[in-house]
Amino acid sequence: MHFAAIGRVPGDPILGLMESYAKDPNPQKFDLGVGVYKDAQGLTPILQAVKRAEQRLVEQQTTKTYIGGHGNAAFGTLISELVLGAESPLLKARRAGATQTPGGTGALRLSADFIAHNLPGRGVWLSNPTWPIHESIFAKAGLKVSHYPYVDSDNRLDVAAMLATLTNVPKGDVVLLHACYHNPSGFDLSRDDWRQVLEIVRERQLLPLIDFAYQGFGDGLEQDAWAVRLFANELPEVLITSSCSKNFGLYSDRVGALIVCADAAEKLLDVRSQLAFIARNLWSTPPDHGAAVVATILGDAALKQLWSTEVEAMRSRIAQLRSGLVEALAPHGLSERFAHIGVQRGMFSYTGLSAGQVQQLREKHSVYMVSSGRANVAGIDETRLGLLAEAIADVCKD
Ligand code: LMR
Repeated sequence: MHFAAIGRVPGDPILGLMESYAKDPNPQKFDLGVGVYKDAQGLTPILQAVKRAEQRLVEQQTTKTYIGGHGNAAFGTLISELVLGAESPLLKARRAGATQTPGGTGALRLSADFIAHNLPGRGVWLSNPTWPIHESIFAKAGLKVSHYPYVDSDNRLDVAAMLATLTNVPKGDVVLLHACYHNPSGFDLSRDDWRQVLEIVRERQLLPLIDFAYQGFGDGLEQDAWAVRLFANELPEVLITSSCSKNFGLYSDRVGALIVCADAAEKLLDVRSQLAFIARNLWSTPPDHGAAVVATILGDAALKQLWSTEVEAMRSRIAQLRSGLVEALAPHGLSERFAHIGVQRGMFSYTGLSAGQVQQLREKHSVYMVSSGRANVAGIDETRLGLLAEAIADVCKD
């Protein structure tokens, strides 16, 4: 038998939580696992701007023929402007361009293969901790993966340790940075920290690969791009992976982009030819629908305005949930212990709960979160914050 020696690998721990949660009959269950935004009703609705763009597409689209290797050209231009800024000098100089990918994960996979094929011998440096799929994507591409410290054993951002390690990274290696709302910790660098990282990256001639999955989920669509734009404007070469899953709510449509910033327009064309070649061998051409939706929204002033209002609503709800959870924990004497939840940013919070406590939360209280202690704050139902706080207090009592 050809398959006789094949064993079973465990299912993906984050996606697996979605399944376990769906099967749980407890009506008081909480889904704080996978990074998906939920509204006050516990639903992940389709944004109105998306619905309107889809209606327009249904009426106006005339073909389902393949889109090119770099995807929808309008999407590429508009997403580059969203990420780099409409007035970006790089875009004006044709030094930056986007390749459409199936989600941000597709962009990461494309970058991993690009590094493996076109920059042989370069190691990739990831934050410790990071999104678990970062680890496997780069390792599976055959790259040497190393780590720089990010969160210390007391669940605090450790910038000094991060900078010390980056200072010793071999020249030319790739360093993956989370643009904002670090996954899984929720701890972000300050602007001063970013400037220090920039100087090390410049001095060590590192290639920054910036993962930008949550634009709009913290301070605002423009503000959240600050670090990305700093690096793109200051350095000759940068790779940026952008995701439209969260901010457009287009999770299942798989929309993302790999944006390359090169030192010259001609060099960008060389790099992009390589990306098209790699993409052709990975997924041939990217899926059309989600990127067409994003292009329709970003290309229309009224739809863009509606969308940005909807992003604003998601953003302020997440901020309220953070402070709400810290308040709900106060009567249990836990507001200090979990004060970091109010300091962390974006969807995720490294709660500091142990794997054992996370397991107890699931088994006793039907609260689902990743075993690392990461909670998706955007998945909390605010009408039941008290119940969630009680459950957390229960597993913290020993
Ligand atoms: C997460 O970390 O939960 C999200 O990025 C979704 C995913 O694909 O894991």
